[in-house]
Amino acid sequence: MRLGSGAFAASCVAIEVIGVAIFIRGFFPAPVRSAARPEPGVETPAPEPIAGASSNWTKLPSPLFNKVVIMLIDALRDDFVFGSKGVKYMPYTTYLVEKGASHSFVAEAKPPTVTMPRIKALMTGSVPGFVDVIRNLNSPVLLEDNVIRQAKAAGKRMIFYGDETWLKLFPKHFVEYDGTTSFFVSDYIEVDNNVTRHLDKVLKRGDWDVLILHYLGLDHIGHISGPNSPLIGHKLSEMDSILMKIHTSLLSKERETLSPSLLVVCGDHGMSETGSHGASSTEEVSTPLILVSSAFERKPGDIRHPKHVQQTDLAATLAIGLGLPIPKDSVGHLLFPVIEGKPMREQLRFLHLNTLQLSKLLQENVPSYEKGSHPVPP
Ligand SMILES: *[C@@H]1O[C@H](CO)[C@@H](O)[C@H](O)[C@H]1NC(C)=O
Ligand SMILES: *[C@@H]1O[C@H](CO)[C@@H](O)[C@H](O)[C@H]1NC(C)=O
Ligand SMILES: [Zn+2]
Repeated sequence: MRLGSGAFAASCVAIEVIGVAIFIRGFFPAPVRSAARPEPGVETPAPEPIAGASSNWTKLPSPLFNKVVIMLIDALRDDFVFGSKGVKYMPYTTYLVEKGASHSFVAEAKPPTVTMPRIKALMTGSVPGFVDVIRNLNSPVLLEDNVIRQAKAAGKRMIFYGDETWLKLFPKHFVEYDGTTSFFVSDYIEVDNNVTRHLDKVLKRGDWDVLILHYLGLDHIGHISGPNSPLIGHKLSEMDSILMKIHTSLLSKERETLSPSLLVVCGDHGMSETGSHGASSTEEVSTPLILVSSAFERKPGDIRHPKHVQQTDLAATLAIGLGLPIPKDSVGHLLFPVIEGKPMREQLRFLHLNTLQLSKLLQENVPSYEKGSHPVPP
């Protein structure tokens, strides 16, 4: 009997060890990574496939947009824009979504719905694991291939104002920057004014290619008083007028340069009914993603039911938009409406580049992936 209970105890321990191991394996999954990572710009892009006639299109297509502005509003939940709050407090944004030259989506964020892993997902197109929550506090430099790194390698001039997390992830990438701290959650005024105070000056200038703004005030209001607080409406109105200022200025610049720009409005994660975030509830993972450009055709949008896409789709879309290689670890796809106005051959070329990048990633991560292309037997 003694031996029996000893064996029982031993098997309990063994089962517990196996259980913990399985838990850890699931909690810290091996991320999908590209094996080869030469310096950006070294690799030559694949040429256009030869279909009948020969092709000399061996370079990356030229950028679709002359300038890109990304306005990230922390904790912007989809219904803050597409719901009744949006209609009430964000009239300009609602106008852009419903009647402007824009494409709107609900971008699903993967948990953990915390700022740093979400910025990484937006810029790398890959899905960071839970381990990023632990590293969130002292965010290390982002080593994975990403849009910011590719843009810098291509000589793009980038400016950043807002949450200083970006400056930790991309320490030497911005030619000009001003970081705000998310440490004082009780402040939701200065933290945004510190971003907006630069706008008038920077929008007048033409010496930049990418401008990134990360507003923290809305997230702070969520933490203080939740998503139904009257402060939310005020903040949304403020964001709406800033968006109008940026869009108006981009349009007037375009009249001089005659080349289209792209304005991206997005959130990093949403906000639960108690005003928190981090988990995987619908309110926390659903963020709006609005792409505005005079390159798009104006058509009535359906504001009630924007298409659902993944947050990770932005990286590939921005890369194509800026004429850059798609980040190697990106699992996202190019948001097709962005290129649907282009000639068919160009559309195919963009899809070809995205497909090649994805199949390469698959090939490096799935051992059973069939190398090469075998004709399907009839
Ligand atoms: C090669 O490139 C030139 C210039 O872009 C173009 O005019 C020409 O049609 C291309 N040739 C082929 C075979 O695609
Ligand atoms: C805003 O800017 C001022 C002056 O540069 C700085 O002292 C202050 O800490 C900033 N506030 C935040 C929240 O980053
Ligand atoms: Zn955030």
